[in-house]
Amino acid sequence: MGFWRHELGFEILNQVVNISMGNCCRRSVRLAHASYSTPSSEAANPPTTLYSTPSSQETSSASFGINSLTTSSSDASFSVSVKPFSFNDLKSATKNFRSESLLGEGGFGFVFKGWIDESTLTPTKPGTGIVVAIKKLKMESYQGHKEWLAEVNYLGQLRHENLVKLIGYCSESENRLLVYEYMSRGSLENHLFRKGVQPLPWLTRMNIAIHVARGLSFLHNLETQVIYRDLKASNILLDSDFNAKLSDFGLARDGPTGDRTHVSTRVVGTRGYAAPEYVATGHLTIKSDVYSYGVVLLELLSGRQALTEETAMSEESLLDWAKPFLSDNRRVLRIMDTRLGGQYSKKGAQGLAALAVNCIHSDPKNRPFMGDVVATLEQLQTSKDVRRTPPPKLNHRGIKRPSYTHKTTANR
Ligand SMILES: Nc1ncnc2c1ncn2[C@@H]1O[C@H](COP(=O)(O)OP(=O)(O)OP(=O)(O)O)[C@@H](O)[C@H]1O
Ligand SMILES: [Mg+2]
Repeated sequence: MGFWRHELGFEILNQVVNISMGNCCRRSVRLAHASYSTPSSEAANPPTTLYSTPSSQETSSASFGINSLTTSSSDASFSVSVKPFSFNDLKSATKNFRSESLLGEGGFGFVFKGWIDESTLTPTKPGTGIVVAIKKLKMESYQGHKEWLAEVNYLGQLRHENLVKLIGYCSESENRLLVYEYMSRGSLENHLFRKGVQPLPWLTRMNIAIHVARGLSFLHNLETQVIYRDLKASNILLDSDFNAKLSDFGLARDGPTGDRTHVSTRVVGTRGYAAPEYVATGHLTIKSDVYSYGVVLLELLSGRQALTEETAMSEESLLDWAKPFLSDNRRVLRIMDTRLGGQYSKKGAQGLAALAVNCIHSDPKNRPFMGDVVATLEQLQTSKDVRRTPPPKLNHRGIKRPSYTHKTTANR
């Protein structure tokens, strides 16, 4: 795939740069309170979120590569057509951010459902026009302006079918909002781990694995590589057909340039997903994303979360639990999510597990590139054995066994 670079100079990005200049000092003070390891900051951060003291490089607004970002490829296009919204517009689009419009909540803030006109992008009555998702930075957020800016900078310029589309943004006094395409099936996290939801079928899981790999491969193959840095099930969103897209570019960074092998950064991201060498040294490479991808593959196979608040206490991550099974091809299927009711291709599951093992290799040099991961998955997907799933297991009365338990065959 040939990726190209495009010179900036667009009005909207100038506007964003100006916003950045105007607020960077205020923002760094807030970050210092919210994310450094002071006792109050620990209370503000979710236990699984990683934050360390920023390096001088990291606190600079220039670290987003604002003047250098630009790219496209044959299967993606370059665009800077993000709309600046007024706060009042977004207030009307969500009916004053009322609770019935709430879609979810994350570290950045609350996400609301809103309605806008498809061509003018002005707010419309609920039920008319198109649905959008509006993320509103909460004042006590440990993330904030810097992450908001990174999101506008990256997602505003990058277009790919496996990246969520940013439609617009709002920056009005203290208010920071982002307007995205609406992903009606929500996050992968909700489908894999939330109680009471229909389990995702095997082929859907395979497709999601491919879509995520394509999104990452696109970022890694840009002329100036982009390291996503926060791959996890909650940042993978699903549209009505279960197509997967990467969202949340707040922690994304330009990759190393010239002879550099890595970028040095403070450690941010999410425990359980972040690569061990990055957590230990702050040295970030595209292989850090490959590690997190391996963890997501294991989540897709097992239906178990990388690290929950409970497992964080006991220090036993999904990886610690799965590793003994992964080293033996005959035992590997014991990690499979029992909610699949045995309806998956053994060959496909073994292939995905083998890929996950490579991706989580302790030496980043031995991890595959995402382009190779995509090729392996596409090959696996075309194999007849992998596409065919065995019929559901029947009980002695000939009735399909329920697959409601969330436990996997191998218990902790
Ligand atoms: N574009 C979207 N379309 C539909 N729902 C969305 C969209 N973006 C976010 N959501 C919903 O809002 C929830 C919160 O998303 P958000 O990205 O703010 O937090 P998170 O990913 O759960 O946590 P973190 O802050 O650690 O990234 C998601 O889990 C999802 O259910
Ligand atoms: Mg998120």
